[in-house]
Amino acid sequence: MSQPSFAQRIVDWQRVHGRHSLPWQLAPSPYRTWVSEIMLQQTQVSVVIDYFNRWMARFPDVPSLAQAPLDTVLEHWAGLGYYARARNLHRAATIVASEHASKLPADRAALEALPGIGRSTAGAILSLGFGQVAAILDGNVKRVLARHAGIEGWPGRSAVLRELWNEAEARLPHDNAAAYTQGLMDLGATLCSRRQPACSQCPVATDCVAKSAGNQHRIPAPKPQQARRERRSQVIVAINNNHVLLQRRPATGIWGGLWAPPIIDADTDIAGAVAKLGLQLQGQPESLQAITHELTHFRWRLQPVRLEVTPTGVQDDASTHWQAIGQPNPALPAPINRLLDQLATEQMHQKSTA
Ligand code: ADE
Repeated sequence: MSQPSFAQRIVDWQRVHGRHSLPWQLAPSPYRTWVSEIMLQQTQVSVVIDYFNRWMARFPDVPSLAQAPLDTVLEHWAGLGYYARARNLHRAATIVASEHASKLPADRAALEALPGIGRSTAGAILSLGFGQVAAILDGNVKRVLARHAGIEGWPGRSAVLRELWNEAEARLPHDNAAAYTQGLMDLGATLCSRRQPACSQCPVATDCVAKSAGNQHRIPAPKPQQARRERRSQVIVAINNNHVLLQRRPATGIWGGLWAPPIIDADTDIAGAVAKLGLQLQGQPESLQAITHELTHFRWRLQPVRLEVTPTGVQDDASTHWQAIGQPNPALPAPINRLLDQLATEQMHQKSTA
């Protein structure tokens, strides 16, 4: 007996079992879909919800985002990580404002030309935001399609990725674009999970190649193991009169555009670096508790070194700031905020025991 198409079963399942009340699904618009998709690229739904609501209260549309200072945008992102996403949103908003009359283009090529929007995000904006039939292929959807079609390799390989995109395109329905896209995402996020797929409840289990071969747990193949790279740095926690020296980090790279104490390579001489900053060292440097920050491509080990200093040159310019210890600053990366919190606690403790 024939059964409804793959897409139809996904759509039917989504209507009953999928998610319908996430904030970006209420009053959906291309702009809201875009912002939510960028936030959801590397962050879980449960974390994104509050950030999304705060973002929409402050930047309700493209013009308000385009006109906001980058620092304000970064403050609304602080804690979500991968800040290039926020810088790209801001830059893309200025392009949409100037080149598309503040309306996101309903066109794949024009969307993909914007910073931060790749093929899958463009597909999500087209289908969820504009109701156009368009393929997506985020991490969860790769798993659903790889299993259903029995594609065994690691999706990071370009040949495997090409096969997955072919499957994504070939299965598109003619209508119900948004429900289909959301259904694929929801299925991947719930039933078709990586470790414990709930095949008995799955609407497309009957013709799932992986399920019939019994190898659904092994698909998709994990990334071939290679040693995790490690980078070691020192954080110069220079303190003068209860203020700590912060610098704005270069626009590109880790924590780009955010404020942090000066960070130097692990094997750079501290005294020389301090002199270069126009500071004079008072007393002995003291090592604080090391910080480990896990990034996609490497592990960053940061050794903070606390130093009492006196400034010998001018430091208060656009990229330098003396921050009062104990005063929260939302434009700092989370690990640096934790470090400064710890510093404030220690100062208080020292004062109370002095
Ligand atoms: N992950 C990426 N996009 C999503 C969406 N629209 N809903 C839930 N999770 C998602």
